[in-house]
Amino acid sequence: MRALVMLLALFFIITLDSSCGSLASNVSCLENEREALIQFKGNLTDKANRLRSWAGKDCCTWKGVVCSSRTGHVMKLDLRNDFDNFIINMLGGVISSLLELKHLSYLDLSGNNLSSVDLLGSLKSLRYLNLSSSYWLQKVPHNLGNLSRLQYLDLNSPLPSCMGNMTQLTVLELTENQFKGEIPNSMKNLCSLRILDLLGNSFSGEIVSPLYGCIRTSLKELNPERNSFTGQLPNYLGEFKNLERLLIRDNSFSGPLPSSLGRLSYLRELGASYNQLNGSIPVGLGLLSNLQILDLSHNSLGGMVYKQHFTTLKSLKELRFSSNSLNISVSSQWVPPFQLQILEMGSCTLGPQFPTWLQTQRHVTSLDMSNASISDIMPDWFEHMSSCIEQVDLSNNQMRGKLPKFQTKCNDSASFNRVLRLSSNKFDGPLSTLPSSTYYLDLSNNLFSGPIPAGDHNNEIGLLVLSNNHFSGGIPVSLCNAVGISVIDLSKNRLSGRIPRCLGNLGQLIVLDLSNNSLHGQIPNSLGFLQQLIYLHLRNNRFHGELPLSLQNLTSIRTLDLDENSFTGVIPPWIGDKLSDLVFLSLQSNNFYGSIPVQLCHLSALQLLDLAHNNITGDIPSCFHNFTAMAALEHNNYDFNPYYDGSERYEDNILVTMKGRELEYTKILVFVTSIDLSTNGITGEIPEGLTALLGLLNLNLSGNHLTGRIPEKIGRIPTGNQLQTLDDWSIYAGNDGLCGAPLTKSCPGDESADDGNRQVLVSEGNKKDCETELLWFCAGVGPGFVVGLLGFFFTLYFKRKWRHLYFQLVEDAYGRIFVAIVVRANRLRKKFHPQRQIGEE
Ligand SMILES: *[C@@H]1O[C@H](CO)[C@@H](O)[C@H](O)[C@H]1NC(C)=O
Ligand SMILES: *[C@@H]1O[C@H](CO)[C@@H](O)[C@H](O)[C@H]1NC(C)=O
Ligand SMILES: *[C@@H]1O[C@H](CO)[C@@H](O)[C@H](O)[C@H]1NC(C)=O
Ligand SMILES: *[C@@H]1O[C@H](CO)[C@@H](O)[C@H](O)[C@H]1NC(C)=O
Ligand SMILES: *[C@@H]1O[C@H](CO)[C@@H](O)[C@H](O)[C@H]1NC(C)=O
Ligand SMILES: *[C@@H]1O[C@H](CO)[C@@H](O)[C@H](O)[C@H]1NC(C)=O
Ligand SMILES: *[C@@H]1O[C@H](CO)[C@@H](O)[C@H](O)[C@H]1NC(C)=O
Ligand SMILES: *[C@@H]1O[C@H](CO)[C@@H](O)[C@H](O)[C@H]1NC(C)=O
Ligand SMILES: *[C@@H]1O[C@H](CO)[C@@H](O)[C@H](O)[C@H]1NC(C)=O
Ligand SMILES: *[C@@H]1O[C@H](CO)[C@@H](O)[C@H](O)[C@H]1NC(C)=O
Ligand SMILES: *[C@@H]1O[C@H](CO)[C@@H](O)[C@H](O)[C@H]1NC(C)=O
Ligand SMILES: *[C@@H]1O[C@H](CO)[C@@H](O)[C@H](O)[C@H]1NC(C)=O
Repeated sequence: MRALVMLLALFFIITLDSSCGSLASNVSCLENEREALIQFKGNLTDKANRLRSWAGKDCCTWKGVVCSSRTGHVMKLDLRNDFDNFIINMLGGVISSLLELKHLSYLDLSGNNLSSVDLLGSLKSLRYLNLSSSYWLQKVPHNLGNLSRLQYLDLNSPLPSCMGNMTQLTVLELTENQFKGEIPNSMKNLCSLRILDLLGNSFSGEIVSPLYGCIRTSLKELNPERNSFTGQLPNYLGEFKNLERLLIRDNSFSGPLPSSLGRLSYLRELGASYNQLNGSIPVGLGLLSNLQILDLSHNSLGGMVYKQHFTTLKSLKELRFSSNSLNISVSSQWVPPFQLQILEMGSCTLGPQFPTWLQTQRHVTSLDMSNASISDIMPDWFEHMSSCIEQVDLSNNQMRGKLPKFQTKCNDSASFNRVLRLSSNKFDGPLSTLPSSTYYLDLSNNLFSGPIPAGDHNNEIGLLVLSNNHFSGGIPVSLCNAVGISVIDLSKNRLSGRIPRCLGNLGQLIVLDLSNNSLHGQIPNSLGFLQQLIYLHLRNNRFHGELPLSLQNLTSIRTLDLDENSFTGVIPPWIGDKLSDLVFLSLQSNNFYGSIPVQLCHLSALQLLDLAHNNITGDIPSCFHNFTAMAALEHNNYDFNPYYDGSERYEDNILVTMKGRELEYTKILVFVTSIDLSTNGITGEIPEGLTALLGLLNLNLSGNHLTGRIPEKIGRIPTGNQLQTLDDWSIYAGNDGLCGAPLTKSCPGDESADDGNRQVLVSEGNKKDCETELLWFCAGVGPGFVVGLLGFFFTLYFKRKWRHLYFQLVEDAYGRIFVAIVVRANRLRKKFHPQRQIGEE
């Protein structure tokens, strides 16, 4: 997959003249050309045997070869690879022998992995050359200048005076390559160029000023999207007066939008999202009567937007302003000149009233007004206008009242797949039905109450997220009709009753989160049929009984979160044998008894093992060093938050009790490593192997009956060592038989242990320590970053002012990883650390 994303592509579109239309293959081929083709083939690797027809006398009948019906010369060679099984079908190797094909006018080598392309520069008859999606291309073949229409081109090391010789060129597409460097100034002389498409390269520098020449009146489409262009957009951009499409998304353009954009009267599409543009939107844009698409989202634009900004935008179909600081100020009587299909104003200021002018828009299919400071009752008319909107995002507002019914009354309702994001509002009341034709329904964090509606339209639904409301009653059996569903999140409600047996029918289910409800009964055997299941959260309910043997069929599972129930029995050995992808195993606060099965050591991906507060006895298995994910300093690339259908995603979460705190982790799960065996009846010594778990960030062995000496490696760690996380006496507390550092109790025969230093390490108030930790963190952004991270968080709970700094650091170090930590009630653990009362910040 990754390889596909990195496809390199190059288009040289040289107009194909009509002679190719008369090609046929009925004259047998010329011997020298046949031999050339055989040699060409011989120098290629062809895993899929695509060239198997290349045998026998008449090369004109070979696949991909077309000869002139008049002369028998090979005119066309089409070896395009656009097959599904792209990698297998790729031809590899070196291009050779093609020079012999003197009449070749059409050559399509796209999608292959061939080198020695310089040769192509000598194919003087070429009219059509397609090298799109080619793996090897970092650089245009240097001698393409010898081709009839192109004079010279090398964008890596511009030879600028030659560039302008390609005056015939009308279309230049260099999409999805790895070109870097600046655009040569000479491009401004490409006086016939209509389309300049540089999408998806690494060009840098400015784009407009190198084009300030005769090209500025010929250019109709300028597309440098997804590059690294910088600088401001100059006011003379307004002189590119024939521009119809200006697409500069995903670069680093800064400064204001020039007011001269209002003079580009042919402009149909302006796409400028994902830059650093600031200032306010020029009112002149409102004059672009041909403009259909206006996308300014994800910039730093600010200021007010008035109706004058839209004066004559009568053609506008898409308006995207999301993620700017724009304050939309239009009166409630405003009648816009446009009929939009897509309206995105997420994180703009639209409220506090729900915008009335939306009523006039009859063709909207996608609406994003999330986080838009709307605190209003949902107006009645929205019910009518919303019936054909496919995507609705009103999340993160203060919308009140009843939810519209979202009934579908559209013409093409067959393919209608609604996505409704209404989370984090104040919608309330019972729901009589679930919205129809809905694929994604997120109603989390609202005030809905009453039963989850039975609904009989459920079979379209793919993701159902109703968490954190006041829903009560049972899980409706009708949910079992939703055979395509992949995510069910009903957590944090007041649901009671049992898990319906028929949930086992939902073979596509990936996430089942029923945590924090009042459900009871046993886990039905049928859940074993959910072989796609990856996340199972049943935490904090009243389930009881043993874990059914059928759960060993859940071979995809990564998170098994059964905390705070009344499950009983021994910890099943098959967890270790069968659930080999398991990353989080949390059985805390149940009634499991017996010893820890050594089979758990097979779980090499395990990052969290929480068996605390059970009745577990026996020794800590000496094979714990086999948890290689915990031994690693740097964590795997395991994707905890996969996209399910390419657009919707579920965020896993896990509760970790650490040093007296319950921490709920979501976005940074990848960093969490923890073993908690506290408050059981575990006996014996601490195995030396535990000290091999260098990546372990949290260990709690307190409240057991461990005996003997704490392993030396833990006990006498030099300051600054990774293992310091284990160097905290509290995690061993309550084991009367333990001795040695970091405990104050010395082992028989030792001189008295000095624990003065170590006490300092756990005293939050000490400024010096905290600074040390911060420095360590800064310095450890490389491999050591992960280690001690939790320790650092811990400190943060007490140092509010650091929190901000910390988040910055993580964002800097990891680009787009965001961090969310929720400190939950300190319910469980305090009593086990009476020595160490932790104050709130
Ligand atoms: C082969 O070309 C000749 C003309 O050179 C034409 O008359 C004949 O129909 C063609 N045969 C086929 C099978 O296309
Ligand atoms: C191509 O194959 C021929 C033999 O078939 C060999 O002589 C020639 O060197 C090869 N060319 C390249 C560029 O590898
Ligand atoms: C070049 O080939 C690709 C497929 O590999 C195709 O999508 C593209 O349209 C072709 N370009 C031209 C100009 O024909
Ligand atoms: C393309 O070919 C080069 C060597 O010619 C090879 O190293 C590379 O792995 C190939 N790429 C793919 C995607 O097969
Ligand atoms: C380009 O054409 C010139 C003149 O026709 C010739 O001398 C030169 O060798 C050609 N270059 C290549 C790489 O074919
Ligand atoms: C480009 O054009 C200039 C003048 O028109 C000429 O001197 C130069 O040789 C040309 N370059 C090439 C590579 O053809
Ligand atoms: C826009 O950003 C630049 C820095 O890129 C800054 O100098 C300028 O003051 C900003 N302008 C506004 C209006 O915020
Ligand atoms: C938006 O503009 C209105 C005036 O139209 C003003 O009352 C309000 O405070 C502004 N809101 C923000 C967030 O700037
Ligand atoms: C909501 O909008 C504000 C600005 O109005 C922005 O700072 C904040 O990041 C947005 N929140 C989300 C979750 O998008
Ligand atoms: C478990 O899987 C086996 C084989 O895949 C299957 O025969 C059995 O019915 C499954 N049991 C349950 C409860 O899913
Ligand atoms: C643990 O076992 C003891 C005796 O075996 C029993 O009294 C106690 O209830 C059990 N505790 C739990 C949480 O199961
Ligand atoms: C632990 O790993 C070793 C190899 O590293 C393996 O031989 C052994 O069987 C594993 N033990 C358990 C209980 O999984």
